[in-house]
Amino acid sequence: MKAADLVNKLEGIDSYKRFGRVKQVVGLMIESQGPESSVGDLCLIHVRHRKNRVIQAEVVGFKGENVILMPYTSVNDIAPGSLVEATSKPLEIKVGSALIGNVIDALGNPLDGMDLPKGLTSVPTEQAPPNPLKRPPISEPIEVGVRMIDSLLTVGNGQRVGIFAGSGVGKSTLLGMVARNTKADLNVIALIGERGREVREFIEKDLGSEGLQRSIVVVATSDQPALMRLKGALTATAIAEYFRDQGLNVMLMMDSVTRFAMAQREVGLAIGEPPTTKGYTPSVFALLPKLLERTGTNELGSITAFYTVLVDGDDMNEPIADTVRGILDGHFVLDRGLANKGQYPAVNVLKSVSRVMNNIVGREHSKSAERLRELLSTYYNAEDLINIGAYKKGSSREIDAAIQLYPEIISFLKQGTHEKMSMQDSVNTLYQLIGRGE
Ligand SMILES: Nc1ncnc2c1ncn2[C@@H]1O[C@H](COP(=O)(O)OP(=O)(O)OP(=O)(O)O)[C@@H](O)[C@H]1O
Ligand SMILES: [Mg+2]
Repeated sequence: MKAADLVNKLEGIDSYKRFGRVKQVVGLMIESQGPESSVGDLCLIHVRHRKNRVIQAEVVGFKGENVILMPYTSVNDIAPGSLVEATSKPLEIKVGSALIGNVIDALGNPLDGMDLPKGLTSVPTEQAPPNPLKRPPISEPIEVGVRMIDSLLTVGNGQRVGIFAGSGVGKSTLLGMVARNTKADLNVIALIGERGREVREFIEKDLGSEGLQRSIVVVATSDQPALMRLKGALTATAIAEYFRDQGLNVMLMMDSVTRFAMAQREVGLAIGEPPTTKGYTPSVFALLPKLLERTGTNELGSITAFYTVLVDGDDMNEPIADTVRGILDGHFVLDRGLANKGQYPAVNVLKSVSRVMNNIVGREHSKSAERLRELLSTYYNAEDLINIGAYKKGSSREIDAAIQLYPEIISFLKQGTHEKMSMQDSVNTLYQLIGRGE
C-alpha cells in the first residue's frame, strides 16, 4: 500500500471509541442512551459483573434520542447502566474454503465450540443483490440427482425454487438427497428455526457424512433470539455469495424461509411496527425480496437456491407463501396425500412449476415431460370412475393409455432416499416411458 493510501486510511479511522449506557430492557429490546450509531450496526454491551463478557447486539431502531438494540444472545446479565460500545460497522462473519464440512452458528462460529480454521476472510452478512442488468440469464440445467426433478421440473443453474410443504411430508429428506446427489460445487445449508433435536437428525441421517463433506451448514434453532434466526439466513446467503464470487456454482438450501419471516415479525412487533396480515409486519414483506434476490446468477458464478415454505393445511395463499412464490422462479409443492400413500419424494408434479425449464432443456425433453403430465392428469381426472369400476376399457384411448402407464409412471416418480440417478439417465428413462405409450 502506498504511503498516501495509508494516510488516507488512517484519516478515515475513528480515533475514539463511542459508548452509551443501557437505560431500559423490555423483553428482547434494549434501550440505551448513545452510542452514536446507525441501524444495522453491531454494538458490544459490556456486562459489569462478569469480567470480559460482552453481549453482541444490533441497532434496530431509535426512540427519540435513544438507541434501540436487540441482542444476538440472551439478555440475562444486562443491567441498567451497562456500557454499550459502538463498533460502527455491521456484523461480519469469517468465510473460506476451510469452512467446508463444518457446522456453524448464525454468527459464523463452529457449533461444536472448536476454533475456526485458519485463513478465512471477513465478509458482511448483509449485501445488496447483484445488479439486475449484470445477471446472466439462466441458460443451462443443474443436476440435482432426484429423478422426477431432473426430468419433469428441471432446475436451472442459478434458479431459485420454493419448496412448499406442511410438516412431516419430507422436506428435510428431499434437501438431504439434493445435497448428496447434486452436481453443484458445494452446498450451503441454512437450518432456521428448527427444533434442536432435528438439527442433529438432519446432519446425521438426511445429509450423512457424504453430504456434509461438500456442505457448510448454518444453524439457528428455534430457541435462539429472533435476531439470531434472522442472521442465520443472512449468514448462509453471505457464505454462498462468497463462493459464487470465486466462480463456483453453489447450491443454497434454506429450511425454512417461513421461520425467517416469523423472526422478522418478532423483531418488527417488538420495535412497534403495526401488524398486518396474520400479524406479519410490513418490514417482513420488505425483507423477503431483499433476502431472496441475493441468490441466483451474477457475472462470476451462480447460486441455485431451494427455500422451504411451511404451508399450514396446504394453504398456498398464506401471506408468506404467496409473497415467496411471487419472487422465486419456480415452486415445488409437497403433497401430504402422496406422502400418506407412501409416494416419496411427495412432490405433486401437476401443482409444481419450474419457470425456466423450457428455456434450458431441448424440445424432446420438454415435450416428453408435458406428455407425462397429461397422462397423469388424465388418470387423476378419471380416477374415481376407474376405482369404482365405472370406466369401461376402450371408451377413451387417452384414458386407456393413462391407465396402462400409470403404474410405471408412479414407479418412475418414486425414488428411495439413497437411490441416485444422473440427469441423463433420468431423462432417458422418461423417454422410454413415454415412448411406450405412443
Ligand atoms: N424419499 C423418502 N423415502 C421414504 N420415506 C421418506 C422419504 N422422504 C420422507 N420420508 C418419510 O417421511 C418422514 C418425514 O420426512 P422429513 O423429516 O424429511 O419431513 P419434514 O417435512 O422435513 O418434516 P418436519 O416438518 O418435521 O421438518 C421421514 O421420517 C420418512 O419416514
Ligand atoms: Mg424437516
